[in-house]
Amino acid sequence: MSIRRLPSDLINRIAAGEVVERPASALKELVENSLDAGARQVSVRLAAGGLDLIEVVDDGSGMAREEMHLALERHATSKLPDDAIENVASFGFRGEALPSIASVARLTLESRVAGADGWRIEIDHGLKGGEGPAALPPGTRIRVEGLFDKVPARRKFLRSPRAEYGACLDAVRRLAMARPDVGFALEHDGRRGLSVQPSDAPTRVAALLDRELVTHGLGIDCVRDGLRLTGVVSLPTFNRGMADHQFLFVNDRPVKDRLLVGALRAAYRDLLARDRHPVAALFVAVPTSEVDINVHPAKTEVRFRDPAAVRGLLVGGLRAALDEAGHRSAAHVQAAAPVQWTSDLAPPDRARGEEERSGEGEGLFYARTGPTPAAFGDSTPPALAGGVAERRTAYADFAPAARAEPATAPVPSFPLGVARGQVAATYIVAEAEDGLVIVDQHAAHERLVLERMRAAATGGSVARQALLLPDVVEMDEPDCDRLEEAAPELAGLGLEMERFGPTAMLVRATPAPLGKTDVPGLLADLAAELAEIGTALALRDRLDHVAATIACHGSVRAGRILSVAEMNALLREMEVTPRSGQCNHGRPTWVKLAHGDIERLFGRK
Ligand SMILES: Nc1ncnc2c1ncn2[C@@H]1O[C@H](COP(=O)(O)OP(=O)(O)OP(=O)(O)O)[C@@H](O)[C@H]1O
Ligand SMILES: [Mg+2]
Repeated sequence: MSIRRLPSDLINRIAAGEVVERPASALKELVENSLDAGARQVSVRLAAGGLDLIEVVDDGSGMAREEMHLALERHATSKLPDDAIENVASFGFRGEALPSIASVARLTLESRVAGADGWRIEIDHGLKGGEGPAALPPGTRIRVEGLFDKVPARRKFLRSPRAEYGACLDAVRRLAMARPDVGFALEHDGRRGLSVQPSDAPTRVAALLDRELVTHGLGIDCVRDGLRLTGVVSLPTFNRGMADHQFLFVNDRPVKDRLLVGALRAAYRDLLARDRHPVAALFVAVPTSEVDINVHPAKTEVRFRDPAAVRGLLVGGLRAALDEAGHRSAAHVQAAAPVQWTSDLAPPDRARGEEERSGEGEGLFYARTGPTPAAFGDSTPPALAGGVAERRTAYADFAPAARAEPATAPVPSFPLGVARGQVAATYIVAEAEDGLVIVDQHAAHERLVLERMRAAATGGSVARQALLLPDVVEMDEPDCDRLEEAAPELAGLGLEMERFGPTAMLVRATPAPLGKTDVPGLLADLAAELAEIGTALALRDRLDHVAATIACHGSVRAGRILSVAEMNALLREMEVTPRSGQCNHGRPTWVKLAHGDIERLFGRK
């Protein structure tokens, strides 16, 4: 064996392995360089998802001829004037992006400093090509062509041009959110993908995030322990199946940080089902001494000096905002409510035509599933055509499920109204001053149980229900360890258990609000929950999470007939309970149909 120094082109290709994973990562580096150079406008052109061409043009400082040569050399940077890497405020500082990209593609660098002439340098897979004068406005233009053409190992891992383009768009979108003061444009195969003018942060975020977030979002601005969190998050009812619309920034640097993503999840834990994700654009500002950005060559990860403080800021800040909005979330479903209303009877064509013309009632949906009543001749629905007895049994199924309370005027002004009846033993129909309210009693009740448990948990006084025979639950050893360690807090929540050998727990009592419950399932969920939240959280926060897991487990009564008094009691409790606007899975617990909506349903408006 003989040790040798590697030639620089090989070193660059090795570095490219880390820095230039796919077209989007090369593009990210180039745009970051433009921003570091003080550009006011960055324009990107892509072909075939960036594989054929990535071109970035900026109006930044530009580079003089000799600087251009240096820029293409490894570990040459203008960004650490005093070698103080701890205080770096630019995106770049490693001095390796350009040489890395140039080692795996054909790169043309053109640049011009104001008041001087422009110059052009070409590099082909790390080898110097031609150079000469170039005509361009002050600033820099970089073209990267045939990325990975000579690196089949890398090319194999790339996805379709569409998917690569998606990643490129995502990278530019993140940087555009980080720098609202700069204009951005992006074009792919001749089509415009993104175009934003310089603006302030909220306007920029609104322009780049889901449009509906304007009505379904919550503005965040909080300060704690010298850290600041700003941005916008979606109400729980506005969620996505993928966590792809979460934009996180630390000191205006886009990051994909596990700690921050985990904290965001934790804040929504009992407001969203496990497979649903909030939309968020969150900006964390920390003193530079509190964060290390030199953790990964692509600079998308950071390390915090005090991770618990950052987590606390996120979980605490978002929770407070979400709690405040607890009632609002469902109220916003109002707008969408008519969509969920269907009628077997198609409205007269005239009325429908008018709605379409006026652009109103867009949300109305009439299911045209069967023939209109006129087609039946004798007006008997086909399903019921038959003997009288048969007809009665067909209705008999429905009779007990829908019960009504005679309307008495006037309606007292409760936000959720006065119960008028129950439908399908699942929904409460109530009359409010300004419309008709429908409550999903199951979802609402689940939420009330959680909030009750939570309130009681803080006082450590959740009632417990002793099991006739203690339940032995077999589990993995690490899970048992976690549960055993949490046993004292869990006892405060009404769950009483102890270790039973290395791989089992013995459960003596369960939380009374749950009623009869699936004990092994509950323990498994709790163990998973504890593994996820770890020990990073304060006891109170942990209790909160655990209470949510327990409450979710105690699935409560859909299909229970309620008396009018019970219904009204439920409505009144919802009105004073925090977060009662949505169930523990982020679905609304109630919807309101305003009088105007009802009139539209009947074509009166
Ligand atoms: N668009 C640009 N306008 C002006 N100068 C540029 C531009 N792109 C690169 N440079 C100069 O070239 C140097 C090298 O760029 P390169 O991206 O390789 O390294 P870096 O940005 O310093 O660090 P990093 O590797 O972390 O990105 C930069 O320090 C900068 O001085
Ligand atoms: Mg750079």
